[in-house]
Amino acid sequence: MTNESSKEKKTTSVEETLRQRSFIELAQALTAQKSNAAGRPLTYCLTTFGCQMNEKQSEAVAGIMDEIGYVRQDNEEADVVLYNTCTVRENANLKVYGRLGHLHSLKDRNPDMKIILFGCMMQEQHVVDKIRKSYPFVDLVFGTHNIFKFAELFYEMLQSDQQIINIWEGTDQIVEDLPTERNYTFKSGVNIMFGCNNFCSYCIVPYVRGRERSREPEAIVKEVKRLVADGVSEVMLLGQNVNSYGKTLEHPVTFAQLLEMLEDVEGLKRIRFMTSHPKDLSDELIETMAKSKKICHHLHLPLQSGSSRILKIMNRCYDKEKYLNLVEKIRKAIPDISLTTDIIVGFPGETEEDFRETLDVVAKCGYDTAFTFLYSKRSDTPAAAMENQVPQDVAKERFNRLLALVQKEGRTRSSRFEASVQEVLVEEESKEKGIFTGRTEYNLLVHFPGSADLLGKYVKVSLDECHGFYYMGSLVEE
Ligand code: SAH
Ligand code: SF4
Ligand code: F3S
Repeated sequence: MTNESSKEKKTTSVEETLRQRSFIELAQALTAQKSNAAGRPLTYCLTTFGCQMNEKQSEAVAGIMDEIGYVRQDNEEADVVLYNTCTVRENANLKVYGRLGHLHSLKDRNPDMKIILFGCMMQEQHVVDKIRKSYPFVDLVFGTHNIFKFAELFYEMLQSDQQIINIWEGTDQIVEDLPTERNYTFKSGVNIMFGCNNFCSYCIVPYVRGRERSREPEAIVKEVKRLVADGVSEVMLLGQNVNSYGKTLEHPVTFAQLLEMLEDVEGLKRIRFMTSHPKDLSDELIETMAKSKKICHHLHLPLQSGSSRILKIMNRCYDKEKYLNLVEKIRKAIPDISLTTDIIVGFPGETEEDFRETLDVVAKCGYDTAFTFLYSKRSDTPAAAMENQVPQDVAKERFNRLLALVQKEGRTRSSRFEASVQEVLVEEESKEKGIFTGRTEYNLLVHFPGSADLLGKYVKVSLDECHGFYYMGSLVEE
């Protein structure tokens, strides 16, 4: 299988799960031997770049590493170092190359160390070529389509002293029921679909994640029920475009129908989802959100640009007017909704006038938060070939103006909660000892003095002091 680029070999999900479980057992035996010889447990360090879907897939890889018998640690001086990579913008890419140099020096000191790279960046041919040529000390490389083969690839790597590169061009396979780790005991991401069919002209995701595939609703409900039985009360449904969920299933189901099925799961308290593409956001979804007792009143609705001309070249399939009308409709149905967005600055051909349209939408929509990105040229996307790329200094200057507006608007929006009492899910202790962090249904962070027994619980907190995108608060006795 070394240095092979292959298409999917068709097995059913059940067969594949059994097959991977058998590789987990084989790797377990080998690992136990190595650990005995070393006289200590073997360790791994896993770092995730990119989005929540990558986080979720890293949990699956960590679950398998745990099962094989490796102990997780934060320090990269480990027996196995894994990077789950992202390539959505160039800086995500550069970070990985930057850290590989450091790993090389660690491996010089410990030649038995294994280095594994996987995820989105590895789906790019030029990346794989570079790793083959310049980073021969990397032991295993695989992509996004064959993550479910991790146990098998890992076992092969343990027995080999050659670099293994195994990248698939695509798959329509969804393998259920493999072991998985969870970063939190009380909340969890749940993939509802994989891939993307939208081909926004700046975006590399469809090329590295492949075509859109939805999981069967029964499999999703089963996973959520299992998570709830295991202590989870909040789920985040994940997909690049959740609003087109279920369209390609043999028995099509809408995203709103899926949400209704999940609403019935007893013990589940909060449902979140991302990302919602404005072009596919249905009235049915708005109605479902408005009447639901569990769906959080927070919607991430990426704008990308406020200029209808740019939106067209971006291939977003909506214009400024349609977006604004949609926001108005949502606010009417769910007046307390918290809206957040993503915006790209400096897309090829963006003029000052186009940029002002973006500022105008930001001023009109009242976002609680907006994630702003400088346009990054991604290889083989249509936008990369466009001639009128915006000079860096112009883009940077616009970016700063946008950021200032976003922060000002965000502060105004967030201040609506000042002095109110909100229910928060307590998520972690902050860096400051004794100060805990919780999240309201509006996805707003609140820090307050508390104790560790509150972790994973819902408590009432008074939002005392607004600091823009977070609050300082205090517990309210019930
Ligand atoms: N599927 C989601 C977005 C996934 S990528 C959606 O359609 O909204 C997350 C964000 O990264 C995007 O919303 C976009 O704002 C940003 N992004 C994607 N490609 C980019 C690029 N080439 N340059 C800068 N930002 C980009
Ligand atoms: Fe990228 Fe557009 Fe797909 Fe989002 S919808 S992942 S921005 S191509
Ligand atoms: Fe990055 Fe891949 Fe997510 S490119 S943003 S990790 S889908």
